[in-house]
Amino acid sequence: MLKYKDGELFCEGVALRDIASEAGTPFYLYSLARLLENFHRIRKAFSKANPLIAYSVKANSNLSILRLLAREGSGFDIVSAGELRRVLAAGGDPQKVIFAGVGKTAEELRLAIQQKILMVNLESEPEAQLLSEIARGQKAVMRASLRINPDVEAHTHEYITTGKKENKFGVSYKSAPALIARIARLPNIEFVGLHVHVGSQILDLTAHINGVKRLVSLIGVLRSEGIEIRTLNIGGGYGIAYGEREKTMNVERAAEKIIPFVRKMGCRLIMEPGRYIVASAGALVTRITYIKVGDLKQFAIVDSGMNHLIRPALYKAYHRIIPVRETRTRKRIEMDVVGPICESADFFAKDRPMPPLTQGELLAILDTGAYGYVMSSNYNTQPRPPEILVNGTAFHIINKRETYDNLLKGEQFPPYLQHGEKGIKGRI
Ligand code: LLP
Repeated sequence: MLKYKDGELFCEGVALRDIASEAGTPFYLYSLARLLENFHRIRKAFSKANPLIAYSVKANSNLSILRLLAREGSGFDIVSAGELRRVLAAGGDPQKVIFAGVGKTAEELRLAIQQKILMVNLESEPEAQLLSEIARGQKAVMRASLRINPDVEAHTHEYITTGKKENKFGVSYKSAPALIARIARLPNIEFVGLHVHVGSQILDLTAHINGVKRLVSLIGVLRSEGIEIRTLNIGGGYGIAYGEREKTMNVERAAEKIIPFVRKMGCRLIMEPGRYIVASAGALVTRITYIKVGDLKQFAIVDSGMNHLIRPALYKAYHRIIPVRETRTRKRIEMDVVGPICESADFFAKDRPMPPLTQGELLAILDTGAYGYVMSSNYNTQPRPPEILVNGTAFHIINKRETYDNLLKGEQFPPYLQHGEKGIKGRI
């Protein structure tokens, strides 16, 4: 999504330096063209199966991005009432919304039923009972599918595996048939299908295929017991190339392998990609506040940190970092690129060979369109950065930089700490 032109880094037709001088730093940047390219690529790859592509809102829930995808006909995979409200605010079609998550509350299920979403992905028996009760109370019938924990090895970071036995997600393959028979008998629930999600950032196609195979054999068992299965939801998880030596999931090959299974089962295919669509369409642009030369290491201290992008701190995730001003020298210096937050985990890169860098220059942290802004925080009372969307030669702020007023807005003093109150005054 980024290219050097005349020694300057551009996103589509806009120089990053121009955005920085107008919007300040740090900022999240998204390329509209790249985002659509990713969406169209996965849609085209699977077009023979005519799937419902339910973009996974958790990856990036900015309203403009949701609206853009809604206009392309995308559906949405949500995990909370908050995400449902975002989809609705963006103009998304509730008839294409699927609700997943292990801990949906009664209030959230009620909203989902009221809004007539497409279906709920159940993850446990008590949840099925609650959904049935609420739907009955509303004189409605809700479509539901069941998430199966496939117990397959996915070769990704342990914090983002979801399809292993020890994970909290879904129900075991073994317990599924009996459980589904009970769910199918619950009033006000129309049981329609199965759901699986093997994990996130999975570059190994075999893991995905194994997940699908688990569902296929389960459908066989269920059909032999007279339970009809109409939808097969294969989740998300397609990995992208963060490192120079990694390869983004080849979705054409994935489709080639997966579609025959779906065809054989005669099911409607549903998929929930998140990262694949948005990760490579985003960058976090930050300015170097200081270069610090320590006894053992050199540090580039930048004006963004783990408060804005927590993936390196949380998963030791690797993100490429490139200077906005092109460097022609081949010289590389090993550096840590770190933020201003008071935590040793506050880094974007460790011992990374970087070209010579100077105070005040801009760096772009790549592939940060997914699980970037959405996982940001206000730790150290630092405002969140703005989100900016580039479209050709134009750029627009699609989410303003937080102000300090925003940060203090919800807080209030108890009576004994308000101005003029005596209370515990004098005791400290
Ligand atoms: N469907 C379900 C049921 C999921 O749990 C997830 C992600 C997705 C779809 C979308 O997966 P994707 O296509 O984006 O891999 N914060 C972590 C990733 C957590 C993913 C959680 N579930 C990260 O920064 O890598």
